[in-house]
Amino acid sequence: MAATEKYSRTAIVLHWLIALLIIVNVGLALAWPYVADESVRPLIDNHKSIGITVLGLALLRLLWRFGHRPPAFPAGYAGWEKWSAHAVHWGLYLVMFMMPLSGWIMDSAWKDAATHPMYFWHMFEWPRIGFIMNLPPETKLKVHDIFGEMHELVAYLLYLLFFLHVAGALKHQFLDKEPEFQRMGIGR
Ligand code: HEM
Repeated sequence: MAATEKYSRTAIVLHWLIALLIIVNVGLALAWPYVADESVRPLIDNHKSIGITVLGLALLRLLWRFGHRPPAFPAGYAGWEKWSAHAVHWGLYLVMFMMPLSGWIMDSAWKDAATHPMYFWHMFEWPRIGFIMNLPPETKLKVHDIFGEMHELVAYLLYLLFFLHVAGALKHQFLDKEPEFQRMGIGR
C-alpha cells in the first residue's frame, strides 16, 4: 500500500487515543448509577477530566485535519459509501465537540459548582464558565437541565454514529477486502 493511502501517524494516534477516551468516558457514565453514593465522586471527577481532554484532542485533530488531507477512498467504493462515510465522519467531529462542551456548560450551571471545584486530573483547578456560574439561580437551573438533556441526547447520536462507523469499517475490511484497518494503522 502506498504511503499516501494511509492516514498520517499523528492522525492515527489522535484517532485511537480519542476513541479510547470516549469509550472509557461512556463506560464510566453508564457504570456510575450502579455505584454506591460514597464511591461515585471519583468516577464523575475522572469523567470530567477525560471529557475536557477529549475536547483539547478533538481541537488538535480538527486543526491537523485542515492541514493534512486524508487519503482518498479506494476506487472501488460506491458513491453512496463515500458520501455516507463523509457524513458519519463529520457527525463524529460534531459529537466530539458537543459532548464535552454540553458537559462543561451543564457543570458550570450546577448549583453546587462554587463549593465543588473541578480539578483537571487532580493537578489544577479547571475553570467553570464564569458568566454561566453568575446567572440567577432559576436561570442556572434551566441551563443545567437543558444542557444535561443535550448531553444525554448527543450521547445517543454518538452511539448511532459509532455503530455506523464500525459497521462501515468492518464491511470494507471483510466483505470488500479493502485494507481499511491498515489505513488507520492496524496491520500492514
Ligand atoms: C468525550 C466527552 C464526553 C462523553 C463521551 C460523555 C458521556 C456521557 C454520558 C454517556 C453520560 C450519561 C448520559 C445519560 O444517559 O444520562 C454523561 C453524563 C454526565 N456527564 Fe459526560 N461526557 C463527556 C464529557 C463531559 C464533560 C467535559 C463533563 C463536565 C465537565 C461531563 C459531565 C457529566 C455529568 C455531570 C453527567 C451526569 C449528568 C446527570 O446524570 O445528571 N461530561 N456523560
